[in-house]
Amino acid sequence: MFLLAIEDLLAHPRVIETREHIHHSIPKHDHMMRVARFAHYLAPLMGADRRTAVRAAILHDLDSRLGTLTSHGAIAARVATELGEPEDVAAAIISHMYPFGPRPTTPEGWVLVVADKLASLHDLSWFMGGLFTGRSLRVRRQLCASDPYVLARRATHRPIGKVWRRRSRAGTPMPQIEG
Ligand SMILES: [Fe+2]
Ligand SMILES: [Fe+2]
Repeated sequence: MFLLAIEDLLAHPRVIETREHIHHSIPKHDHMMRVARFAHYLAPLMGADRRTAVRAAILHDLDSRLGTLTSHGAIAARVATELGEPEDVAAAIISHMYPFGPRPTTPEGWVLVVADKLASLHDLSWFMGGLFTGRSLRVRRQLCASDPYVLARRATHRPIGKVWRRRSRAGTPMPQIEG
């Protein structure tokens, strides 16, 4: 059972808080759990250590918003090391965005690359499927209201919204778009 390998990490506040973080328009926790599940099945098929791959998977996108497409693997790897994970877990996390970013150097790194891509496709299909029932947008709205990163960005990056609100307060009509 793959949950046994990550029992302690699932109880860690840094992982628990990802339930309220948005990632691919779904909870980041769901994405990382999906990657962990894929890693559990793929590891023996790819000659990798299952425990290392699964532990890397459940941490692989922590603090991803602090980096870019190519650099956030290194950021999450640093977080994993700070949480006490060994070098092989960090090494697998660093390269999970390959080919966007460094090439994996270990079998567990390759497992994470494949598991992350498969999970991302599942994330997308879950989101698309939920568009028909309203579930996806409801979850997205909840996450936008709970994710501290989104809230902080909204507070500092709303030039168009600010102009709009200022103009409506002053009773100035917004410019009409021709065409
Ligand atoms: Fe990532
Ligand atoms: Fe990911």
